[in-house]
Amino acid sequence: MTTGQHFASDNYAGVCPEALAALLAANDGHVRSYGDDQWTLRAADRLREVFATDCDVYFVFNGTAANSLALAALCQSYHSVICHQLAHVETDECGAPEFFSNGAKLLALAGEEGKLTPAAIEEAVTRRTDIHYPKPKVVTLTQASEVGTVYRPDELRALTATAHELGLRVHMDGARFANAVAGLGVAPADLTWRAGVDVLCFGGTKMGLPVGEAVVFFDRRLAEDFAYRCKQAGQLASKMRFLSAPWLGILENDSWLRHAAHANAMARRLASGLAEAAGLQTLFPVDANGVFVHLPGVVEQGLRARGWLFYTFIGAGGARLMCGWDTAPETVDRFLADVRELLAAS
Ligand SMILES: Cc1ncc(COP(=O)(O)O)c(C=O)c1O
Repeated sequence: MTTGQHFASDNYAGVCPEALAALLAANDGHVRSYGDDQWTLRAADRLREVFATDCDVYFVFNGTAANSLALAALCQSYHSVICHQLAHVETDECGAPEFFSNGAKLLALAGEEGKLTPAAIEEAVTRRTDIHYPKPKVVTLTQASEVGTVYRPDELRALTATAHELGLRVHMDGARFANAVAGLGVAPADLTWRAGVDVLCFGGTKMGLPVGEAVVFFDRRLAEDFAYRCKQAGQLASKMRFLSAPWLGILENDSWLRHAAHANAMARRLASGLAEAAGLQTLFPVDANGVFVHLPGVVEQGLRARGWLFYTFIGAGGARLMCGWDTAPETVDRFLADVRELLAAS
């Protein structure tokens, strides 16, 4: 392997300098524990500024916890949660949403390009209304989606209007929310509360944080007793400043958006290189920082033999190539050169 960088996951990247500096700055003296410290209060305030609304904010360790606890807060055990069939909550959270909600059922739906549609939601809600069916109560949308596409504000508004008309609450898995904001170039509010999203799980790691997600309740009534849920689930950090300070580091100078825009740009560079130089078309539009492509068998094997790491089990079965906040253009170009060489030799 030449550069030490890979395309397997945007979580392979390390911590960005802004988050690291904030982490070190927070390591000074004694401060109050369990979130009652200036770092945590300021990070929550900064998130309220970013979203331009008086939302309620909780910091937890990871996305599985954020999603599961947020979904549990939105429904009862006899309810169901509508999600896409590729949704992380369905495929990669080891049943945690069901566990933390005491048994609420996920209803996984198909949808083009990793996205749900209002019609699919309506069909899932109205197909059964009898007592034997788990009553749909929540819809969860992943932004950016698991296959690297994004929901535009008008798509979100249509989805949330349908959901709310049908009595559902709307949760957003925003593990790559920053990539969606950077890709669309719209205000964070336009992709969340102004578009009808009730709760956002805002991912930190893909933007360069060492750890952590922010659960952001735009409808504050839904956050009732959420702090107890976090504590009970082992998600209340005693030294909370080390979870929250890195957020301040990336939020205070908008480096979260800069890092996300860079990752997106690297994905576009990769996608156009695959198409132009190697004739390989992506399986989905490259709206964020993920590129999905069918690699011929010899190319895939050859790349692996040369040390490249990437997954092929996510999405529609092609190779998933994720770009991170630190992906270097040289890494992309080296990968493309290897693809071209392997294709020429095949
Ligand atoms: C769509 C999506 N949601 C949530 C997560 C967060 O998962 P974790 O629990 O590993 O932090 C990820 C991580 O890759 C993801 O891709």
